[in-house]
Amino acid sequence: MSTLAWDETTNHPNPADATGLGAIERGGARVSVSDKAMINARADVNQLLPLKYRWAWEKYLAGCNNHWMPTEVSMQADIALWKSKDGLTEDERRMIKRNLGFFAASESLVANNIVLAIYRHLTNPECRQYLLRQAFEEAVHTHTFQYIVESLGLDEGELFNMYREVPSITDKAAWALRHTQSLDDPSFSTGTVEKDRAFLRDLVAFYVVFEGMWFYTGFAQILSLGRRNKMVGIAEQYQYILRDESLHLNFGIDVINQIKHENPRLWTSEFQDEIRAMLRAAAELEAAYGRDTVPNGFLGLNAALCEEYMHFIANRRCAQLGLEPVFAPTENPFPWMSEMMDLKKEKNFFESRVIEYQSGGSLSWD
Ligand SMILES: [Fe+2]
Ligand SMILES: [Fe+2]
Repeated sequence: MSTLAWDETTNHPNPADATGLGAIERGGARVSVSDKAMINARADVNQLLPLKYRWAWEKYLAGCNNHWMPTEVSMQADIALWKSKDGLTEDERRMIKRNLGFFAASESLVANNIVLAIYRHLTNPECRQYLLRQAFEEAVHTHTFQYIVESLGLDEGELFNMYREVPSITDKAAWALRHTQSLDDPSFSTGTVEKDRAFLRDLVAFYVVFEGMWFYTGFAQILSLGRRNKMVGIAEQYQYILRDESLHLNFGIDVINQIKHENPRLWTSEFQDEIRAMLRAAAELEAAYGRDTVPNGFLGLNAALCEEYMHFIANRRCAQLGLEPVFAPTENPFPWMSEMMDLKKEKNFFESRVIEYQSGGSLSWD
């Protein structure tokens, strides 16, 4: 027997075997690549080799090559500017705090979703290898917000509890959590069309919407300040986070497209419409957050530009998933965002110290 115990009534493996924590099949046959699958796999999930999805392994290597720590970035200029009386306007201070407050808890929500929902149901060891790397990167990102709070002497409760105090941030988190909560039932397992679609919705909510849409406006807001030489330490940290998140997003897109490819019956036109409606709703939630974050606007940034950017990004995400766009064609109002991905080329952009761990972190933007 080269396969795991299979429940013919539900047509999916015994959930204990899907996790890799089930009883060992003594003398079991070696793994065959053809038995490996993204979800509902028959192959033993505890054996990385032979690889089936080289793209997942390549992303794991790329993630490792992008290693960084927030404490390596100097915060001296940010501290001086934050403490100065007239270096920042009230509108800029509001944007910075709301932006940090959104990310501070969101990194934990994303991490929890990976560890407690996605990992259990993605039955492929090379994808799990990437998830383990991603989980560490989310910890590094949460660490970044701890380091910023400590460096600038910010009110930690104000920032970390903001997702429960500012309604437009609560609305975004609550929207995403609905999709992970459906997987939270201990008896949940994939293997039916309905359950497999619930898993896909969760992947879309976290990888495409949270990390691939909402985070991007967040990056654009801080990086637009960085371009004006304000809060350059935080801007540099956001460049590293953007590089990581671009990889997370691309992994999520590949996972979703591979599941579609292996399970075409899930991807009906009705379900495609449902996913498109999710992206449209997510863009609307982001527009409300933009109005809370930059209500008056300032040089190079306002709520209308943030909304336009979200429409541009939402259409890009649709294209990556093979879906029709959800908004009318829109120009990218922040074309400089693409430069932000290339840390080597822009090494002296902020004239601050950049540690290069390696030379090969080549990624295409978003
Ligand atoms: Fe993150
Ligand atoms: Fe992420």
